[in-house]
Amino acid sequence: MRKNNVIGLLSAIALVPALAGAAETTEGHPTYAKEVSRIIQDNCQICHQPGQIGPMSFTSYEEVRPWAPLISQRVEQREMPPYQYDNDVGVQHLKNDWRLSEDDINTIVSWVKAGSPLGNPEDLPEPREYPQVGEWRLAAELGPPDHLIKSTPWDVPAAGQDMWWEPEVDSGLTETRCIKAVETLPSAAAHGSTHHANSHFLVQDESGEWVTYGRLSEYAYGKLGEKTPEGACRTAPANSKVGWSIHYYPDGNAVPDDEVTVGIWYYDEEDKFDEKTAYRQDLSLYMLDGGGDYLIPPHGKLMTQGMHSFDHPVRIDSWQPHLHLRGVAMSMEVFYPATGRRETLSQASNWNAGWNHSHTYEEGYQPLVPAGAIIILTAWFDNTADNPRNPDPDQWVGAGQRTTDEMSHAWIAVTHLDNEGYEEALAQREERDQRMVSGVEQ
Ligand code: HEC
Repeated sequence: MRKNNVIGLLSAIALVPALAGAAETTEGHPTYAKEVSRIIQDNCQICHQPGQIGPMSFTSYEEVRPWAPLISQRVEQREMPPYQYDNDVGVQHLKNDWRLSEDDINTIVSWVKAGSPLGNPEDLPEPREYPQVGEWRLAAELGPPDHLIKSTPWDVPAAGQDMWWEPEVDSGLTETRCIKAVETLPSAAAHGSTHHANSHFLVQDESGEWVTYGRLSEYAYGKLGEKTPEGACRTAPANSKVGWSIHYYPDGNAVPDDEVTVGIWYYDEEDKFDEKTAYRQDLSLYMLDGGGDYLIPPHGKLMTQGMHSFDHPVRIDSWQPHLHLRGVAMSMEVFYPATGRRETLSQASNWNAGWNHSHTYEEGYQPLVPAGAIIILTAWFDNTADNPRNPDPDQWVGAGQRTTDEMSHAWIAVTHLDNEGYEEALAQREERDQRMVSGVEQ
């Protein structure tokens, strides 16, 4: 009883400033026209509009109004916008972070509580324009890609099982370039059946054998393009080939001769990289294994772990966890053997296999990992009926390629540093943190 009172009191305290912030309108509550329409424009319409993947359109008050209670519930539970990354755990400075701010959530919730009013139509913002299915998402910022590389045609049937298409094509590169950004684009027709499309560079070794050079791009449903962090050169090697691994899962539409395209934006040749800061970044590169071979029993749970270390310092630029339907959470930690300290870098404990994000750390906040430190990847699986996404809790589930098998790995993009570069990056951060403490910078 007592405990409940304390919790009630705490949440009442927490609510006061939130409501005060949301209620700065003449009517005493937020309106669609003034506040909510802008939140929906900024965070939801990219998917919730005709022809996009959201099941309903949110482009006007008339369209949004009937869904208001469900919207309130989904945003309060942080299920929408879909972005599986924990608050308050690990690095919170992320680029293209889709999570709503606490203020925006409170605004939506109090708008719905007030009866979802329109307010004054004169307050409505101008409608937005969006890229359509089949258009490059990064084009709005960077213009069209400099270089397109296509997979070879494949007939996607209307119905059937998972299928893989793994062609190798010429990259068309006659000289080595630095990649500024890369994006993978499924065709508009096969938008719904292209689950994954991974690509990697191959180069010839001395004996003429084609060997993997590094990742080019990793696409999974719901993912945007990836930009190389400033000052790093992601190399696209001359005289290379591109190997594809495309996973189709038929969605009812037959698409003959389907092709997936990778678009690459390069740095201009004149953009000379400062010798000292031009560290090589491997391409979306390391697939960290979250714990080898395993079998999850029917109605059982399992935790697996994988570890990895580098013999030189690295900077981790992004983290993309990958699990399937029994997967419920993943974390990435670093263990420093020198001090015994263990630190969580990132965690997603609301995993949803329908969504795949590469969580890209903001400049200056990418984890710096000293030589010999151990990166620990932990995955949690729930094969019980409590897991709402579990298709069949009576099955034994092992690691494998099919959608109904499990996976447990993460992609991390890494910039390789030398000792000097590592010390320099550390010193810059210490200086910044001190400035923040002394109040020079907020
Ligand atoms: C990246 C695309 C994307 C974004 C951004 C997005 N949604 Fe969604 N939304 C979806 C998809 C796809 C579904 C259906 C699958 C699901 O429920 O996960 C969905 C489902 C929903 C549902 C539930 C419908 C139902 O019948 O259960 C609501 C409500 C919703 N979204 C609201 C929002 C709101 C509000 C925002 C912005 C604050 C938002 N969504 C942002 C793609 C998106």
